[in-house]
Amino acid sequence: MCGIIAYTGTQQALPVLLDGLKRLEYRGYDSTGVSLISRKRIKTVKAAGKLNVLESKLDTPVSGHCGIGHTRWATHGAPTDENAHPHYDADHRYAVVHNGIIENVDALKAKLGKKVTYTSETDSEVIAHLLAQHGGDFVDALRDVLLQITGTYGLAVIDKEHPDTIIVARNGSPVILGIKDDEMLAASDMSALSRYTNQVIHLDDGEIAVLKPGHFEVSRLDSTVSEKQAITLNLQNANYDRGGHPHYLYKEIVDQPDTVRQTLSGRLDERFSTAHLGGLNLSARDLIGIKRITILGCGSALYAGMAGANMIETLARIPVNAEPAAEFRYRNPVIEQDSLYIVVSQSGETFDTLAALREVQRKGGFVLGIVNSVGSTIAREVDGGIYMHAGPEVSVASTKAYTSMLTAFSLLALLLGRSRDVSPQKGNSIINELKALPEKISQVLTLETDIAKIANKYKKSASAFFIGRTSGFPVALEGAQKLKEISYIHAEAYPASELKHGPLALVTKKTPCVVILPDDELLLKTVSSMEEIKARGGPVIAVTSSDSKRIDKLADAVLRVPASGTLTQPVLMGIVLQLLAYHSAVSLGRDVDQPRNLAKSVTVE
Ligand code: AGP
Repeated sequence: MCGIIAYTGTQQALPVLLDGLKRLEYRGYDSTGVSLISRKRIKTVKAAGKLNVLESKLDTPVSGHCGIGHTRWATHGAPTDENAHPHYDADHRYAVVHNGIIENVDALKAKLGKKVTYTSETDSEVIAHLLAQHGGDFVDALRDVLLQITGTYGLAVIDKEHPDTIIVARNGSPVILGIKDDEMLAASDMSALSRYTNQVIHLDDGEIAVLKPGHFEVSRLDSTVSEKQAITLNLQNANYDRGGHPHYLYKEIVDQPDTVRQTLSGRLDERFSTAHLGGLNLSARDLIGIKRITILGCGSALYAGMAGANMIETLARIPVNAEPAAEFRYRNPVIEQDSLYIVVSQSGETFDTLAALREVQRKGGFVLGIVNSVGSTIAREVDGGIYMHAGPEVSVASTKAYTSMLTAFSLLALLLGRSRDVSPQKGNSIINELKALPEKISQVLTLETDIAKIANKYKKSASAFFIGRTSGFPVALEGAQKLKEISYIHAEAYPASELKHGPLALVTKKTPCVVILPDDELLLKTVSSMEEIKARGGPVIAVTSSDSKRIDKLADAVLRVPASGTLTQPVLMGIVLQLLAYHSAVSLGRDVDQPRNLAKSVTVE
């Protein structure tokens, strides 16, 4: 969603803010803006469009050592210059950048009265006017204003009367402080801070922090002091560069042999033929006591959860279901003491996933997280978990994080399986399967030229189908998701068995069907679905690990991944579909890393 960056210190603030905005742009990017305190005045420059539009408006740089910046993903009001943040009051005393939604904006506007003129359609602007009306001490004024707000916020405010001070606050939308000698930074995302410091503090909901050069003070809205210690982040994997690749997405796809290695690193316990997952906070006795598992996530994280459910159920014989987090939290779910709940999230900030986690914990349930972003809100609030260690994922479409989610689920399935009936021999063969995975991913990447040709051949299709069964179905869902997200080709996934119950009516020679065929006991049944598609003239692209000649005979194109065990086949096939989506998008000239209407981290409901 939107991104915030704030800086106060000895350097010129503008280059720091622009650099931060560049790194935040992937979160939301329909407009950008900055405000700086320059010679006791607040100067604000903002622009609809990408960061380069703002940069061109800043030909004559604004000087100043204290400022705030924002990238916006529109919620209230279209992406225009006026609606871009920062927002200010009539006298330009205060400037505000805000992530989140103010639900009682109408009531607050009514309170402000008719004399106030608004320059934007946003809910956020009301904060600047409320501050102006309040006046007085900066911190007290902001505290009072925040106490009137119903909704969510991560925000940063400057006041020209306090030219070196920034106040940030958090309620439901992340804010991280970056600490550095005689400077202070704040941002909504680590990506904007990692170049400057590895000393960070994550604000919790209800906290407010006053930042001055080299100094910070955190308190709660009721003025009680919060004792916060900075944590040192390991920035070894925090690589935000494209590494010479044309797109972040491409880099993130081809990096997967390494990122999977990182997810597996130190976690294969050959001595006991199991997985070593130190952060679960579950004893062996707890593990055997688990009677049911519910996995929660959104979008690709949900599809990874569905794949994980198959893995765990198959190996550990525990009933598992995966559900959209946003739906789960609103259906007054029954939380059971002997159930394990798992939330899955790359960013660790997805609002709906976080809300589901809190709902389970509120009812006394135990929640594990499978999270990529170290120190994120979900990572901090879960009872235990598995970090993916995939490194920062910048492109909006998830690839390496999705693959690492599957890898983390394989480890968990192995651990749960070995805590039950899986034999040491079977455990060892799974360990060997996982050890071989990075090399097999490298082999899949060599299919790229063939995949690019197929993408080019079908790029004009108005619609595509993805089908698979059991472990192949979540792969189909994720394949359709990737294609629609970045190429804008309409794509739907179905269990192959469902095709004849409706969607087959839409199959023509113009609708390519991607058929996922893991080499399992359902292979021949999925081949029958291929026959049904061919009988209606539909082009078939088969993605398989089987060497069946029937597949070659029927399909218009076959993309064959190396043979592997049941846990890792979905990973290999998923990577084929990532490349298919990538090359379709590139050949259609799409904005691969920043697809229209989408944001990387969805921190609003
Ligand atoms: C993935 O390609 C999507 N952009 C999206 O579905 C994403 O997976 C979803 O929003 C969940 O994000 P999270 O993993 O950060 O929670």
